[in-house]
Amino acid sequence: MDNLIQKDMKYVWHPYTQMKSSEEFPPIVVKRAEGGKIFDENGKFYYDTISSWWCNLHGHNHPVIKRAIKKQLDEFEHVMFAGFTHESAVKLAEKLVFMTPDGLDKVFFSDNGSTAVEVAMKMSFQYWKNIKKENKHCFLSLDRAYHGDTVAAMSVSGVDLFNKKFEPLFFKTFKSPAPYCYRCEFLKCRETCQMECANEMEKILEQNSEKISAIIIEPLLMAAGGMIIYPPEFLKRTKELAVKYNVHLIVDEVATGFGRMGEMFASEIAGVSPDFMCLSKAITSGYLPLGATLMTKEIFESFYDEDSAKTFYHGHTFTANPVACAAALASIELFETEGTLEKIKYISGKLALFLARAARFPLVGDVRMKGVVGAMELVQDKATKKPFDPGAMIGMDVYKLGLENNLLLRPLGNVIYFFLPGCLSPVELEDIFTRAEGVLQSIRVEK
Ligand SMILES: Cc1ncc(COP(=O)(O)O)c(C=O)c1O
Repeated sequence: MDNLIQKDMKYVWHPYTQMKSSEEFPPIVVKRAEGGKIFDENGKFYYDTISSWWCNLHGHNHPVIKRAIKKQLDEFEHVMFAGFTHESAVKLAEKLVFMTPDGLDKVFFSDNGSTAVEVAMKMSFQYWKNIKKENKHCFLSLDRAYHGDTVAAMSVSGVDLFNKKFEPLFFKTFKSPAPYCYRCEFLKCRETCQMECANEMEKILEQNSEKISAIIIEPLLMAAGGMIIYPPEFLKRTKELAVKYNVHLIVDEVATGFGRMGEMFASEIAGVSPDFMCLSKAITSGYLPLGATLMTKEIFESFYDEDSAKTFYHGHTFTANPVACAAALASIELFETEGTLEKIKYISGKLALFLARAARFPLVGDVRMKGVVGAMELVQDKATKKPFDPGAMIGMDVYKLGLENNLLLRPLGNVIYFFLPGCLSPVELEDIFTRAEGVLQSIRVEK
Protein backbone atom coordinates (compact mmCIF):
# COMPACT_ATOMS: atom_id res chain seq x y z
CA MET A 1 0.00 0.00 0.00
CA ASP A 2 1.53 3.31 -0.95
CA ASN A 3 2.42 6.01 1.47
CA LEU A 4 -0.36 8.42 0.52
CA ILE A 5 -3.07 5.83 1.11
CA GLN A 6 -1.51 4.89 4.45
CA LYS A 7 -1.55 8.53 5.50
CA ASP A 8 -5.10 8.95 4.18
CA MET A 9 -6.22 6.03 6.31
CA LYS A 10 -4.35 7.38 9.30
CA TYR A 11 -5.54 11.01 9.17
CA VAL A 12 -8.63 11.34 6.97
CA TRP A 13 -12.32 10.59 7.53
CA HIS A 14 -14.24 10.46 4.23
CA PRO A 15 -17.93 11.38 3.83
CA TYR A 16 -20.61 8.72 3.41
CA THR A 17 -17.95 6.05 3.87
CA GLN A 18 -17.72 3.19 6.34
CA MET A 19 -14.04 3.77 7.00
CA LYS A 20 -13.52 0.16 8.02
CA SER A 21 -14.23 -0.85 4.42
CA SER A 22 -11.30 1.21 3.16
CA GLU A 23 -8.94 -1.41 4.58
CA GLU A 24 -10.18 -3.75 1.87
CA PHE A 25 -11.18 -1.11 -0.63
CA PRO A 26 -9.01 2.00 -0.26
CA PRO A 27 -9.90 5.28 -1.98
CA ILE A 28 -8.54 5.95 -5.46
CA VAL A 29 -5.82 8.58 -5.60
CA VAL A 30 -6.72 11.16 -8.24
CA LYS A 31 -3.86 12.84 -10.05
CA ARG A 32 -5.65 14.88 -12.68
CA ALA A 33 -8.98 15.29 -14.45
CA GLU A 34 -9.88 16.50 -17.92
CA GLY A 35 -13.33 16.94 -19.47
CA GLY A 36 -15.45 13.94 -18.48
CA LYS A 37 -12.51 11.86 -17.23
CA ILE A 38 -10.70 11.45 -13.93
CA PHE A 39 -7.18 9.93 -13.95
CA ASP A 40 -5.64 8.03 -11.06
CA GLU A 41 -2.00 7.89 -10.00
CA ASN A 42 -1.35 4.99 -12.39
CA GLY A 43 -2.80 6.85 -15.35
CA LYS A 44 -5.99 4.77 -15.41
CA PHE A 45 -9.04 6.85 -16.34
CA TYR A 46 -12.59 6.76 -15.05
CA TYR A 47 -15.53 8.41 -16.79
CA ASP A 48 -17.04 10.86 -14.33
CA THR A 49 -20.54 9.61 -15.07
CA ILE A 50 -22.01 11.16 -11.92
CA SER A 51 -20.36 14.56 -12.42
CA SER A 52 -18.38 14.27 -9.16
CA TRP A 53 -21.47 14.16 -6.94
CA TRP A 54 -23.65 15.97 -9.48
CA CYS A 55 -21.75 19.22 -9.61
CA ASN A 56 -19.33 19.07 -12.54
CA LEU A 57 -21.18 20.46 -15.53
CA HIS A 58 -18.78 21.67 -18.25
CA GLY A 59 -16.10 19.08 -17.57
CA HIS A 60 -12.93 19.17 -15.50
CA ASN A 61 -10.08 21.55 -16.15
CA HIS A 62 -12.05 23.88 -18.42
CA PRO A 63 -9.79 26.73 -19.61
CA VAL A 64 -12.51 29.42 -19.46
CA ILE A 65 -13.47 28.69 -15.85
CA LYS A 66 -9.84 28.38 -14.80
CA ARG A 67 -9.02 31.72 -16.44
CA ALA A 68 -11.88 33.43 -14.59
CA ILE A 69 -10.70 31.94 -11.29
CA LYS A 70 -7.12 33.06 -11.88
CA LYS A 71 -8.21 36.57 -12.88
CA GLN A 72 -10.22 36.96 -9.68
CA LEU A 73 -7.37 35.55 -7.60
CA ASP A 74 -5.01 38.14 -9.06
CA GLU A 75 -7.34 40.89 -7.84
CA PHE A 76 -8.29 39.46 -4.42
CA GLU A 77 -9.36 36.11 -3.02
CA HIS A 78 -11.91 36.88 -0.34
CA VAL A 79 -13.48 39.68 1.66
CA MET A 80 -16.22 39.63 4.24
CA PHE A 81 -19.62 40.22 2.71
CA ALA A 82 -21.19 42.31 5.49
CA GLY A 83 -20.38 45.96 4.90
CA PHE A 84 -18.45 45.10 1.71
CA THR A 85 -19.42 44.00 -1.76
CA HIS A 86 -17.65 43.17 -5.03
CA GLU A 87 -18.27 43.02 -8.75
CA SER A 88 -18.33 39.22 -9.10
CA ALA A 89 -21.11 38.81 -6.53
CA VAL A 90 -23.19 41.70 -7.87
CA LYS A 91 -22.90 40.53 -11.49
CA LEU A 92 -23.76 36.98 -10.46
CA ALA A 93 -26.78 38.05 -8.42
CA GLU A 94 -28.05 40.08 -11.38
CA LYS A 95 -27.58 37.11 -13.74
CA LEU A 96 -29.35 34.71 -11.39
CA VAL A 97 -32.33 37.02 -10.96
CA PHE A 98 -32.70 37.27 -14.75
CA MET A 99 -32.18 33.54 -15.39
CA THR A 100 -34.54 32.13 -12.79
CA PRO A 101 -38.36 32.09 -12.98
CA ASP A 102 -40.22 35.39 -12.65
CA GLY A 103 -40.77 36.69 -9.17
CA LEU A 104 -37.38 35.74 -7.70
CA ASP A 105 -35.80 39.14 -7.17
CA LYS A 106 -33.05 38.89 -4.57
CA VAL A 107 -30.11 36.60 -3.89
CA PHE A 108 -28.64 35.58 -0.55
CA PHE A 109 -25.30 33.79 -0.95
CA SER A 110 -23.88 30.98 1.16
CA ASP A 111 -21.41 28.21 0.46
CA ASN A 112 -23.08 24.83 -0.18
CA GLY A 113 -26.41 23.18 -0.86
CA SER A 114 -27.36 22.50 2.76
CA THR A 115 -26.78 26.11 3.74
CA ALA A 116 -28.76 27.33 0.71
CA VAL A 117 -31.64 25.23 2.10
CA GLU A 118 -31.18 26.39 5.72
CA VAL A 119 -31.27 30.01 4.56
CA ALA A 120 -34.59 29.47 2.77
CA MET A 121 -36.10 27.70 5.78
CA LYS A 122 -34.96 30.31 8.29
CA MET A 123 -36.09 33.16 6.04
CA SER A 124 -39.49 31.59 5.52
CA PHE A 125 -39.86 31.09 9.26
CA GLN A 126 -38.82 34.66 10.05
CA TYR A 127 -41.04 36.10 7.27
CA TRP A 128 -44.15 34.87 9.09
CA LYS A 129 -42.82 36.33 12.36
CA ASN A 130 -42.16 39.64 10.59
CA ILE A 131 -45.77 39.81 9.46
CA LYS A 132 -47.03 38.70 12.86
CA LYS A 133 -48.19 35.20 11.95
CA GLU A 134 -46.44 33.67 14.91
CA ASN A 135 -47.75 30.12 14.63
CA LYS A 136 -46.20 29.14 11.33
CA HIS A 137 -43.18 27.25 12.57
CA CYS A 138 -43.45 23.82 10.87
CA PHE A 139 -42.46 22.59 7.41
CA LEU A 140 -43.95 20.13 4.99
CA SER A 141 -41.69 17.89 2.94
CA LEU A 142 -41.73 14.55 1.15
CA ASP A 143 -40.83 11.06 2.26
CA ARG A 144 -37.54 10.10 0.62
CA ALA A 145 -36.56 13.76 0.16
CA TYR A 146 -32.97 14.82 0.58
CA HIS A 147 -32.08 18.44 1.31
CA GLY A 148 -28.66 18.15 2.94
CA ASP A 149 -26.90 17.02 6.08
CA THR A 150 -27.20 19.95 8.46
CA VAL A 151 -29.86 19.54 11.14
CA ALA A 152 -32.60 21.72 9.63
CA ALA A 153 -31.97 20.19 6.20
CA MET A 154 -32.13 16.69 7.71
CA SER A 155 -35.40 17.58 9.46
CA VAL A 156 -37.08 18.04 6.09
CA SER A 157 -35.30 15.07 4.52
CA GLY A 158 -36.72 11.56 4.51
CA VAL A 159 -34.01 9.07 3.67
CA ASP A 160 -34.11 6.86 6.75
CA LEU A 161 -30.70 5.31 6.19
CA PHE A 162 -29.08 8.73 6.49
CA ASN A 163 -31.36 10.52 8.94
CA LYS A 164 -33.36 8.19 11.19
CA LYS A 165 -30.85 8.01 14.02
CA PHE A 166 -30.71 11.81 14.29
CA GLU A 167 -34.50 12.15 14.60
CA PRO A 168 -34.50 13.31 18.24
CA LEU A 169 -32.63 16.41 17.06
CA PHE A 170 -35.19 17.39 14.43
CA PHE A 171 -37.91 20.00 14.57
CA LYS A 172 -41.50 19.39 13.59
CA THR A 173 -42.06 18.51 9.95
CA PHE A 174 -45.09 17.01 8.23
CA LYS A 175 -44.21 14.31 5.72
CA SER A 176 -46.23 13.66 2.60
CA PRO A 177 -45.82 10.60 0.32
CA ALA A 178 -43.19 10.79 -2.40
CA PRO A 179 -44.44 10.68 -6.01
CA TYR A 180 -42.49 7.46 -6.52
CA CYS A 181 -44.51 6.06 -9.41
CA TYR A 182 -42.61 2.74 -9.72
CA ARG A 183 -43.44 1.87 -6.11
CA CYS A 184 -46.67 3.82 -5.75
CA GLU A 185 -47.99 3.64 -2.17
CA PHE A 186 -51.52 3.77 -3.55
CA LEU A 187 -50.89 0.92 -6.00
CA LYS A 188 -51.80 3.15 -8.94
CA CYS A 189 -50.00 3.94 -12.16
CA ARG A 190 -49.45 7.43 -13.51
CA GLU A 191 -51.63 7.01 -16.58
CA THR A 192 -54.75 6.38 -14.50
CA CYS A 193 -54.02 7.79 -11.04
CA GLN A 194 -55.65 10.85 -9.49
CA MET A 195 -52.32 11.99 -8.01
CA GLU A 196 -53.29 10.44 -4.70
CA CYS A 197 -49.88 11.43 -3.31
CA ALA A 198 -50.70 15.11 -3.92
CA ASN A 199 -54.14 14.59 -2.37
CA GLU A 200 -52.39 13.39 0.80
CA MET A 201 -50.38 16.61 0.78
CA GLU A 202 -53.61 18.56 0.56
CA LYS A 203 -55.06 16.67 3.54
CA ILE A 204 -52.05 17.66 5.64
CA LEU A 205 -52.39 21.28 4.55
CA GLU A 206 -56.15 21.34 5.18
CA GLN A 207 -55.56 20.38 8.79
CA ASN A 208 -52.29 22.15 9.53
CA SER A 209 -51.65 25.08 7.21
CA GLU A 210 -51.96 27.54 10.11
CA LYS A 211 -48.81 25.93 11.52
CA ILE A 212 -46.91 25.46 8.27
CA SER A 213 -44.33 27.94 7.10
CA ALA A 214 -43.31 26.31 3.81
CA ILE A 215 -43.41 23.25 1.61
CA ILE A 216 -39.92 22.25 0.54
CA ILE A 217 -39.45 20.05 -2.51
CA GLU A 218 -36.83 18.83 -4.97
CA PRO A 219 -38.32 19.71 -8.37
CA LEU A 220 -38.89 16.73 -10.71
CA LEU A 221 -35.96 14.71 -9.36
CA MET A 222 -35.66 13.29 -5.86
CA ALA A 223 -31.99 12.65 -6.27
CA ALA A 224 -30.46 11.08 -3.17
CA GLY A 225 -33.77 9.35 -2.38
CA GLY A 226 -33.09 7.03 -5.34
CA MET A 227 -33.12 9.22 -8.48
CA ILE A 228 -36.91 9.24 -8.40
CA ILE A 229 -38.18 11.23 -11.37
CA TYR A 230 -41.72 12.46 -11.09
CA PRO A 231 -44.15 14.20 -13.44
CA PRO A 232 -44.20 18.02 -13.67
CA GLU A 233 -47.93 17.94 -12.80
CA PHE A 234 -47.03 16.99 -9.23
CA LEU A 235 -44.84 20.07 -8.86
CA LYS A 236 -47.51 22.24 -10.46
CA ARG A 237 -50.10 20.89 -8.02
CA THR A 238 -47.72 21.50 -5.10
CA LYS A 239 -47.44 25.13 -6.14
CA GLU A 240 -51.25 25.44 -6.36
CA LEU A 241 -51.56 23.95 -2.88
CA ALA A 242 -48.93 26.34 -1.50
CA VAL A 243 -50.94 29.29 -2.85
CA LYS A 244 -54.30 27.90 -1.74
CA TYR A 245 -53.14 27.25 1.84
CA ASN A 246 -50.92 30.34 2.18
CA VAL A 247 -47.59 28.61 2.75
CA HIS A 248 -44.31 29.30 0.96
CA LEU A 249 -42.95 27.00 -1.72
CA ILE A 250 -39.21 26.36 -1.47
CA VAL A 251 -37.81 24.55 -4.50
CA ASP A 252 -34.47 22.93 -3.85
CA GLU A 253 -32.72 23.08 -7.22
CA VAL A 254 -29.34 22.22 -5.69
CA ALA A 255 -29.08 19.07 -7.82
CA THR A 256 -31.38 19.97 -10.72
CA GLY A 257 -30.35 23.57 -11.42
CA PHE A 258 -28.28 24.59 -14.43
CA GLY A 259 -29.64 22.43 -17.19
CA ARG A 260 -29.59 19.01 -15.56
CA MET A 261 -33.24 18.28 -16.33
CA GLY A 262 -33.03 19.64 -19.88
CA GLU A 263 -34.04 23.25 -19.15
CA MET A 264 -32.02 25.70 -17.11
CA PHE A 265 -34.16 24.99 -14.02
CA ALA A 266 -36.52 22.09 -13.35
CA SER A 267 -39.17 24.50 -12.02
CA GLU A 268 -39.44 26.01 -15.50
CA ILE A 269 -40.46 22.64 -16.95
CA ALA A 270 -43.48 22.65 -14.64
CA GLY A 271 -44.07 26.38 -15.20
CA VAL A 272 -43.65 27.00 -11.48
CA SER A 273 -42.42 30.23 -9.86
CA PRO A 274 -41.54 29.42 -6.26
CA ASP A 275 -41.17 31.75 -3.29
CA PHE A 276 -37.62 30.50 -2.71
CA MET A 277 -35.13 28.71 -4.92
CA CYS A 278 -32.00 27.03 -3.54
CA LEU A 279 -28.93 26.63 -5.78
CA SER A 280 -25.46 25.16 -5.40
CA LYS A 281 -23.44 22.28 -6.99
CA ALA A 282 -23.40 23.14 -10.73
CA ILE A 283 -23.65 26.87 -10.04
CA THR A 284 -19.83 26.95 -10.34
CA SER A 285 -19.77 23.86 -12.57
CA GLY A 286 -18.40 22.17 -9.47
CA TYR A 287 -15.16 24.18 -9.40
CA LEU A 288 -15.65 25.88 -6.04
CA PRO A 289 -18.21 25.73 -3.23
CA LEU A 290 -21.04 28.26 -3.49
CA GLY A 291 -24.68 28.37 -2.45
CA ALA A 292 -27.39 30.83 -3.40
CA THR A 293 -30.95 31.27 -2.17
CA LEU A 294 -33.30 33.40 -4.24
CA MET A 295 -36.55 34.80 -2.93
CA THR A 296 -39.41 37.11 -3.86
CA LYS A 297 -39.53 40.84 -3.30
CA GLU A 298 -42.42 40.36 -0.88
CA ILE A 299 -40.28 38.18 1.36
CA PHE A 300 -37.33 40.56 1.19
CA GLU A 301 -39.53 43.54 1.97
CA SER A 302 -40.87 41.97 5.15
CA PHE A 303 -37.31 42.18 6.53
CA TYR A 304 -36.60 45.69 5.15
CA ASP A 305 -37.34 47.92 8.11
CA GLU A 306 -35.96 50.39 10.60
CA ASP A 307 -36.67 47.77 13.25
CA SER A 308 -33.37 45.91 13.74
CA ALA A 309 -35.29 42.89 15.07
CA LYS A 310 -36.29 42.24 11.46
CA THR A 311 -32.67 41.82 10.37
CA PHE A 312 -31.83 38.38 8.99
CA TYR A 313 -29.15 37.33 11.47
CA HIS A 314 -27.49 34.69 9.36
CA GLY A 315 -24.22 34.54 7.41
CA HIS A 316 -21.25 32.36 6.63
CA THR A 317 -17.62 33.39 6.62
CA PHE A 318 -17.29 32.49 2.95
CA THR A 319 -20.57 34.09 1.86
CA ALA A 320 -20.26 35.14 -1.81
CA ASN A 321 -16.62 34.15 -2.04
CA PRO A 322 -15.33 36.23 -5.00
CA VAL A 323 -13.39 33.37 -6.61
CA ALA A 324 -16.45 31.10 -6.47
CA CYS A 325 -18.66 33.90 -7.87
CA ALA A 326 -16.18 34.43 -10.73
CA ALA A 327 -16.26 30.68 -11.49
CA ALA A 328 -20.07 30.78 -11.48
CA LEU A 329 -20.17 33.71 -13.89
CA ALA A 330 -17.81 31.90 -16.27
CA SER A 331 -19.83 28.70 -16.00
CA ILE A 332 -23.09 30.52 -16.79
CA GLU A 333 -21.48 32.24 -19.78
CA LEU A 334 -20.44 28.86 -21.17
CA PHE A 335 -24.10 27.94 -21.57
CA GLU A 336 -24.20 30.51 -24.38
CA THR A 337 -20.74 30.16 -25.88
CA GLU A 338 -20.77 26.34 -25.88
CA GLY A 339 -24.49 25.73 -26.44
CA THR A 340 -24.67 23.65 -23.26
CA LEU A 341 -28.45 23.15 -23.30
CA GLU A 342 -28.21 21.84 -26.86
CA LYS A 343 -25.46 19.43 -25.82
CA ILE A 344 -27.62 18.29 -22.92
CA LYS A 345 -30.50 17.57 -25.32
CA TYR A 346 -28.18 15.42 -27.43
CA ILE A 347 -26.90 13.54 -24.36
CA SER A 348 -30.47 13.06 -23.17
CA GLY A 349 -31.47 11.45 -26.50
CA LYS A 350 -28.56 9.01 -26.34
CA LEU A 351 -29.26 8.24 -22.69
CA ALA A 352 -32.87 7.37 -23.56
CA LEU A 353 -31.66 4.88 -26.18
CA PHE A 354 -29.28 3.27 -23.73
CA LEU A 355 -31.94 2.98 -21.01
CA ALA A 356 -34.34 1.34 -23.45
CA ARG A 357 -31.70 -1.35 -23.98
CA ALA A 358 -30.92 -1.57 -20.26
CA ALA A 359 -34.62 -2.10 -19.43
CA ARG A 360 -34.43 -5.51 -21.10
CA PHE A 361 -31.96 -6.88 -18.56
CA PRO A 362 -33.66 -9.23 -16.08
CA LEU A 363 -32.22 -7.38 -13.07
CA VAL A 364 -33.43 -3.97 -14.20
CA GLY A 365 -36.87 -3.41 -12.70
CA ASP A 366 -37.36 0.20 -13.67
CA VAL A 367 -35.60 2.78 -15.81
CA ARG A 368 -36.34 6.47 -15.41
CA MET A 369 -34.74 9.57 -16.86
CA LYS A 370 -34.92 13.29 -17.43
CA GLY A 371 -32.23 15.47 -19.02
CA VAL A 372 -28.79 14.08 -18.19
CA VAL A 373 -30.04 11.94 -15.31
CA GLY A 374 -30.89 8.33 -16.00
CA ALA A 375 -31.47 5.64 -13.38
CA MET A 376 -31.87 1.87 -13.33
CA GLU A 377 -33.48 0.30 -10.27
CA LEU A 378 -32.16 -3.22 -9.82
CA VAL A 379 -34.60 -5.78 -8.45
CA GLN A 380 -34.44 -9.39 -7.41
CA ASP A 381 -37.67 -10.21 -9.22
CA LYS A 382 -38.85 -8.08 -12.10
CA ALA A 383 -42.44 -9.36 -12.08
CA THR A 384 -43.05 -8.69 -8.38
CA LYS A 385 -40.59 -5.73 -8.10
CA LYS A 386 -39.07 -7.53 -5.11
CA PRO A 387 -36.09 -5.40 -4.08
CA PHE A 388 -32.68 -6.78 -3.30
CA ASP A 389 -31.92 -7.25 0.32
CA PRO A 390 -29.56 -4.40 1.35
CA GLY A 391 -27.26 -7.11 2.73
CA ALA A 392 -26.76 -8.40 -0.84
CA MET A 393 -24.64 -5.26 -1.43
CA ILE A 394 -25.56 -5.33 -5.09
CA GLY A 395 -24.76 -1.64 -5.39
CA MET A 396 -21.23 -2.17 -4.13
CA ASP A 397 -20.72 -4.97 -6.68
CA VAL A 398 -21.82 -2.63 -9.44
CA TYR A 399 -19.50 0.07 -8.16
CA LYS A 400 -16.52 -2.31 -8.27
CA LEU A 401 -17.46 -3.64 -11.71
CA GLY A 402 -17.88 -0.07 -12.90
CA LEU A 403 -14.39 0.89 -11.78
CA GLU A 404 -12.94 -2.16 -13.52
CA ASN A 405 -14.68 -0.89 -16.66
CA ASN A 406 -13.49 2.74 -16.28
CA LEU A 407 -16.85 3.98 -15.04
CA LEU A 408 -17.60 5.86 -11.86
CA LEU A 409 -21.00 4.32 -11.06
CA ARG A 410 -21.55 5.16 -7.41
CA PRO A 411 -25.00 3.66 -6.72
CA LEU A 412 -27.72 4.75 -4.33
CA GLY A 413 -28.69 1.46 -2.71
CA ASN A 414 -30.08 -0.65 -5.54
CA VAL A 415 -30.26 2.24 -7.97
CA ILE A 416 -27.48 2.69 -10.52
CA TYR A 417 -27.56 6.00 -12.24
CA PHE A 418 -25.90 8.42 -14.58
CA PHE A 419 -25.72 12.13 -13.78
CA LEU A 420 -23.74 13.05 -16.86
CA PRO A 421 -21.65 16.17 -17.37
CA GLY A 422 -22.63 18.26 -20.40
CA CYS A 423 -19.16 18.09 -21.95
CA LEU A 424 -19.21 14.47 -23.16
CA SER A 425 -18.55 13.93 -26.87
CA PRO A 426 -20.66 11.51 -28.96
CA VAL A 427 -17.73 9.07 -29.00
CA GLU A 428 -17.32 9.23 -25.22
CA LEU A 429 -21.06 8.72 -24.72
CA GLU A 430 -21.09 5.62 -26.91
CA ASP A 431 -18.06 4.30 -25.04
CA ILE A 432 -19.72 4.90 -21.65
CA PHE A 433 -22.91 3.11 -22.65
CA THR A 434 -21.04 0.15 -24.17
CA ARG A 435 -19.05 -0.23 -20.96
CA ALA A 436 -22.22 0.12 -18.85
CA GLU A 437 -23.90 -2.66 -20.81
CA GLY A 438 -20.84 -4.78 -20.12
CA VAL A 439 -21.27 -4.08 -16.39
CA LEU A 440 -24.96 -5.04 -16.49
CA GLN A 441 -24.08 -8.24 -18.30
CA SER A 442 -21.47 -9.24 -15.73
CA ILE A 443 -23.59 -8.76 -12.60
CA ARG A 444 -24.07 -12.18 -11.12
CA VAL A 445 -26.64 -12.61 -8.40
CA GLU A 446 -27.12 -15.58 -6.12
CA LYS A 447 -30.80 -16.52 -6.27
C1 LIG B 1 -31.42 18.39 -3.61
C2 LIG B 1 -30.25 18.61 -2.71
N1 LIG B 1 -30.30 19.57 -1.78
C3 LIG B 1 -29.28 19.83 -0.96
C4 LIG B 1 -28.13 19.09 -1.03
C5 LIG B 1 -27.00 19.36 -0.08
O1 LIG B 1 -25.94 19.97 -0.74
P1 LIG B 1 -24.49 19.97 -0.08
O2 LIG B 1 -24.00 18.57 -0.14
O3 LIG B 1 -23.70 20.90 -0.96
O4 LIG B 1 -24.64 20.49 1.30
C6 LIG B 1 -28.02 18.07 -1.97
C7 LIG B 1 -26.80 17.26 -2.07
O5 LIG B 1 -26.72 16.26 -2.69
C8 LIG B 1 -29.10 17.82 -2.84
O6 LIG B 1 -29.08 16.84 -3.76
